[in-house]
Amino acid sequence: MADYGLKGRIAVITGGGRGIGRGIALALAREGANVVIADVLAEQAQKTAREAEAEGVGALAIVADVSDKAQVNRLVEDTIGSFGRVDILINNAGVSPKKDGAKVTVVEMDTDEWERVIGVNLHGSFYCARACAREMVKQGYGKIINMSSLAGRTYSAIPGAHYLASKAAVIGLTRALAGELAPYGINVNAIAPGRIESEMIRDVPSEINELYLQKIPVNRLGTHEDIANTALFLVSDLAGYITGVTVDVNGGSLML
Ligand SMILES: NC(=O)c1ccc[n+]([C@@H]2O[C@H](COP(=O)([O-])OP(=O)(O)OC[C@H]3O[C@@H](n4cnc5c(N)ncnc54)[C@H](O)[C@@H]3O)[C@@H](O)[C@H]2O)c1
Repeated sequence: MADYGLKGRIAVITGGGRGIGRGIALALAREGANVVIADVLAEQAQKTAREAEAEGVGALAIVADVSDKAQVNRLVEDTIGSFGRVDILINNAGVSPKKDGAKVTVVEMDTDEWERVIGVNLHGSFYCARACAREMVKQGYGKIINMSSLAGRTYSAIPGAHYLASKAAVIGLTRALAGELAPYGINVNAIAPGRIESEMIRDVPSEINELYLQKIPVNRLGTHEDIANTALFLVSDLAGYITGVTVDVNGGSLML
């Protein structure tokens, strides 16, 4: 097994209460990192924090809505208050609203819905990156991962325009952050997952997931472990020369 050198590091994982975020949080905890689980779902955040503690690391659950900058600033203040620093940010919280299992089209989308998705997926990533980067710049060390999506890399008919736009914008944000923060010893990369088994995709009719499967060369949906393994590498110093990159983790369904 690779030694990722993450023992004692402090990691904030947004949307860490379930799904991909939980998977990354527990993988980080197994590598010895202390974790702060930020989520709007209090019970789920607590549950992940307890599971992380069982790995022998410090863990804190914080209820925070990433689309609210005051709550994000408090999240980072509480992290510093408890652990003294923040080494790793996993900007993972995201939403992909559907109506009766189908996407909401542009012509039927109301402005509130557009703003909610952009607010969580894009503004939330910016608020969290900004608040953590302020600490990381002082430390001269940091690792940030932004969660994009296959839908941000190419056209997808499954999520709505707000989701596609937000996930493409996260890639631009990643490059901007990577360029600005590189002189301070901070690496910023994005992960673009393909179809990953999670609560988010269980809301979609099974025929659609079947259709997806036919387009995935490795012939399976992705798992939380596929994403967590990528994240472990990117936040380790093994990936110290990688910044501003978007890593496609999609079983070959999009090859760029
Ligand atoms: N599952 C997939 O196939 C897939 C594919 C590509 C990208 N992604 C991205 O990966 C990330 C995680 O997705 P997932 O499948 O685990 O989804 P999920 O819905 O299972 O988990 C998302 C988590 O984020 C939390 N969250 C939502 N809004 C929040 C907010 N405003 N503030 C704080 N927390 C909030 C939720 O409570 C939940 O715990 C998302 O950014 C998603 O867009 C997922």
